[in-house]
Amino acid sequence: MGYLPFFSLETWILLITFICIFVMYGNWTYRTFEKLGIPGPKPVMYWGTLGRQNPVYYLADNECAQKYGRIWGMYELKLPMLAVMDPEMLKTILVKECFTYFTNRRNLRLNGDLYDAVSIAEDDQWRRIRNILSPSFTSGRIKEMFTIMKHHSHKLTTCLQSKVRNGEVVNIKDFFGPYSMDVMVSCAFSVDMDTISNPSCPLITHASKLFRFSLPLFIFQGCFPFFLPLLELLGVSFFRKTSTAFFKTVVEKMRAGRLTDHEIVSQITMLAFAGYETSALTLVFLAYNLARNPEVMKRLQEEIDSTFPNKGPIEYEALVQMEYLDCVLCECLRLYPPAARLERTAKETVRINRITIPKDMVVMVPVYALHRDPELWPEPEEFKPERFSKENKQNINPYTYLPFGFGPRNCIGMRFALVMVKLALVEVLQNYSFSVCAETEIPLKMDAEGLVGPLNPIKLKLVTRSIKADLQ
Ligand code: HEM
Repeated sequence: MGYLPFFSLETWILLITFICIFVMYGNWTYRTFEKLGIPGPKPVMYWGTLGRQNPVYYLADNECAQKYGRIWGMYELKLPMLAVMDPEMLKTILVKECFTYFTNRRNLRLNGDLYDAVSIAEDDQWRRIRNILSPSFTSGRIKEMFTIMKHHSHKLTTCLQSKVRNGEVVNIKDFFGPYSMDVMVSCAFSVDMDTISNPSCPLITHASKLFRFSLPLFIFQGCFPFFLPLLELLGVSFFRKTSTAFFKTVVEKMRAGRLTDHEIVSQITMLAFAGYETSALTLVFLAYNLARNPEVMKRLQEEIDSTFPNKGPIEYEALVQMEYLDCVLCECLRLYPPAARLERTAKETVRINRITIPKDMVVMVPVYALHRDPELWPEPEEFKPERFSKENKQNINPYTYLPFGFGPRNCIGMRFALVMVKLALVEVLQNYSFSVCAETEIPLKMDAEGLVGPLNPIKLKLVTRSIKADLQ
């Protein structure tokens, strides 16, 4: 014992008690799935299963799916999360029992000013806000906004012109990002921010920053959730104050009858973000996939040319009916669904398909992994738009393809996004073709944080289309 530091007996007892509590608390929740008989990766004290398979969380989901099947348990820090990829269970969770048990997502609580945004609000407040917002996203309303969208898709092609003329390599997000922001902002506020001519505009920087959560804060709240009420009281939030304040000043003059001023600000901020980054990423991945699959691009351009001959004006009805365009977009969202996961929290303990889901358990749908399940999607890594052709589409179980989620809590902006993305793609492809170049990263390294996205900017070349070149 002589080599141990000389402490009094009381100090030793205190120290050992502290170490025991530290270890016990750090492992507290980790028997949840063992008790439920659900397989999954082994957790590490405090850290849970984060990064145990792969540092990119959606690639880790894919690896877990291969190892454990369609249901497994994982721990995000200390929080148990049930991953479900079984289509029958998903039908129950996302649709049948949405209003009874699975209305809400996980509430991280530190939502700052955005606590009443539609994607965060819960139960009756969510239902009321969603009902008020839904009429803004009907086909009729989107059709009305189509003229505004066309103004921006035209600007997009004009802006690309100078780059193409000079043969420059293009960071494709520098164009599709501002396009999607301009469309979102002008449809929501009737203001033309013209971020495409000014990509360093604060709107773009704030929207990009809004959902980049602080990692230390995320780890702290995950390991010590009992501090959450105190953090809330201190006004600590995942959403950067400077960014939410920025959006607040942009929209606080708006008024509408049935939402409070605060609710209006929150909805607009959330819609601007939810729509901006997801749609921009979809366009970026479309360009990348088409550049890598020139035969698909050629076939799509043929459909575009026959629907709108001689680079004619793009009409709403014809655009939404283009079949191959729809296949290409669906396949791109299968391979790269911007939202890698869906989440619902169980309000009560419930038994579904012989699996008990305890009260407050977070159920996570690993969409990225589901879209790459080789039993559902043969050659899952291949870009094959024919999977979604008229004949093949009817064989796809709707609960195996979830880029916009499903059920009453699905993406409210789905139709809006589809039109905005299709319009931009068609107008760009009427005029240019995408091609890979020495700077194009193949295969892509993926971003470990936030939405499914590339770690490094995707760089491509654009080639002006001439009838002659196309005939060759
Ligand atoms: C390609 C573009 C988009 C993708 C892939 C996408 C995907 C998603 C997904 C997966 C969800 C979660 C659904 C669920 O939990 O079942 C969601 C929710 C949501 N999205 Fe989108 N989205 C896109 C564009 C948009 C646009 C343009 C808007 C707004 C104009 C928007 C607004 C929202 C909102 C407000 C929610 C939360 C709905 C609620 O909780 O009731 N999204 N989106």
